[in-house]
Amino acid sequence: MNRAAFFAPFLRGAFIEKTRSPWIIRAAENAGNTAELSITITGEDRSAASISAAIEASSFFREHTLPLSVSLKADGAEYRYLCAPDFYSAEKILRGERTEAWAIDKGTAGPSRADVVRNRVALITGGAQGFGEEITRGLAAVGALVFIADLNMAGAEGLAKQLNGEYGKTVAFPVKVNVAEEESVQAMTEQIALNAGGLDLCISNAGVLRASSILEQDIASFRFVTEVNYTAFAIVSKYCGLLMKAQHETALSWTADIIQINSKSGLEGSNKNGSYAGGKFGGIGLVQSFAKELVEYGIKVNAVCPGNFFDGPLWSDPEKGLFVQYLKAGKVAGAKNIADVKSFYEAKVPMNRGCTGKDVIRAILYLVEQEYETGQALPVTGGQVMLS
Ligand SMILES: NC(=O)c1ccc[n+]([C@@H]2O[C@H](COP(=O)([O-])OP(=O)(O)OC[C@H]3O[C@@H](n4cnc5c(N)ncnc54)[C@H](O)[C@@H]3O)[C@@H](O)[C@H]2O)c1
Repeated sequence: MNRAAFFAPFLRGAFIEKTRSPWIIRAAENAGNTAELSITITGEDRSAASISAAIEASSFFREHTLPLSVSLKADGAEYRYLCAPDFYSAEKILRGERTEAWAIDKGTAGPSRADVVRNRVALITGGAQGFGEEITRGLAAVGALVFIADLNMAGAEGLAKQLNGEYGKTVAFPVKVNVAEEESVQAMTEQIALNAGGLDLCISNAGVLRASSILEQDIASFRFVTEVNYTAFAIVSKYCGLLMKAQHETALSWTADIIQINSKSGLEGSNKNGSYAGGKFGGIGLVQSFAKELVEYGIKVNAVCPGNFFDGPLWSDPEKGLFVQYLKAGKVAGAKNIADVKSFYEAKVPMNRGCTGKDVIRAILYLVEQEYETGQALPVTGGQVMLS
């Protein structure tokens, strides 16, 4: 593992613990010498304790301040980091526009719903398109730093560029990942550790659908759906969990969240769509199990189960969307056009409309804000699926 990425979450946790607010710890070889703290680590297993003790004993902390940069010496090598309460300020230090140490402002009251992810570091897999894009936009709008991780790098880059332009600062980073491959996911979390120091919110959203009768489905297609929707959630939870656990070692009072974007098909079966529903049901088993295990490290694990996103590409793509497919296949009796097919599906929802990105964002913010819940699957279906 990259050594600078290995130490970063311990450092970030120590800053969080002193301020009760999120920090950016950014690996940067040319970090400035102003307001710098030097820390020496002897022995990898003492990393967390050495970093916490060095900050506690430093003249910075005694003067109720925190350094702008840290030089960390371990195994005969030196690692340098910029330290700032948000990414924009980290960029200012790099440009030499900030030379004064940070005053410690220990927040006591909890943040309001709108501020619950402000300056927090968030990852969204499959963030380039569909629900993922909506969630990325929603999180950026409420002040999070978002890593847009996707197989479609051009899409992730385009969205990050657009958002950074819109906000006039870095609010989003594109990262290439295949969530079904362990090495790729590990490299993704290293990128996050090097650029932000740790992670507060992991949204495991990337998913695929290959609807088919079980009597006809090619088993390779069944396995593909299961790999992406089920196994990949475990891979993402493993590496994000390790990063969050390391951060928690120096920030015992801080909580982090892993949220799986599941589906209403994770709560009730889906006709001729077993590979999808089976993987989503399994996802809830993983959510409950990981929640029990990771609570020890301050990590909550929950699922959001959205209803159908009729306005997203899965349903509305004019060439391969489900509305076109269902119209051509005659799946909805009497339907003459796409509007007829859409009305048929909308009528299945008591609230008579599809789920939107806004509905999902509200559920995510609720789960992050709610400190007393873990292992839950929250339906966001307009009443179409009700828990018993
Ligand atoms: N669209 C719906 O109606 C609906 C309803 C309920 C739940 N969901 C769930 O929401 C999530 C997003 O669905 P969507 O409809 O927005 O999908 P989408 O197909 O529009 O977008 C999925 C994104 O994930 C990316 N992706 C796919 N495989 C990947 C991989 N192996 N590694 C990294 N990235 C990968 C794609 O490139 C794409 O950007 C899924 O988990 C899905 O099951 C969707």
